[in-house]
Amino acid sequence: MLAESLKTLLATEYAYTVKAQQFHWNVEGADFVQLHEFFQTIYEDAYSAIDPTAEYIRSLEEYTPGSFERFLELSQIGGQTRIPRARLMIEELLANSMTMIELLNQCFAEAEAENKQDIANFIAERLSQHNKYAWQMRSLLKEARA
Ligand SMILES: [Fe+2]
Repeated sequence: MLAESLKTLLATEYAYTVKAQQFHWNVEGADFVQLHEFFQTIYEDAYSAIDPTAEYIRSLEEYTPGSFERFLELSQIGGQTRIPRARLMIEELLANSMTMIELLNQCFAEAEAENKQDIANFIAERLSQHNKYAWQMRSLLKEARA
């Protein structure tokens, strides 16, 4: 059911945003400037999706979750209470991006099945953003060619 999947998406995107911001704050190392800015781009973009997602849930005549407690119950992404090294931050956020992409694909299919083209369109744009970040993180992790 689309509304339920959007609640999961909302909570998961919130968890994703918080993690990207945590990494923005705490990243260290030779690539500090690049990664500090990269994580900021990601969390700002992810954050921008939260309000529209919540309002689409309301447009489906469901109430939207809005507490840490509910987000923790619903999120498919776990939090990070430690401070990983820079490379591990990228690996973890990339894995979380793949979870986001899977969830977005599910929401897209349900939006189409329920004939909610406006929501499908929004989800498609979110997929595009997350696919872009996944590509960028895979590229960051790859060894440079000799
Ligand atoms: Fe900042």
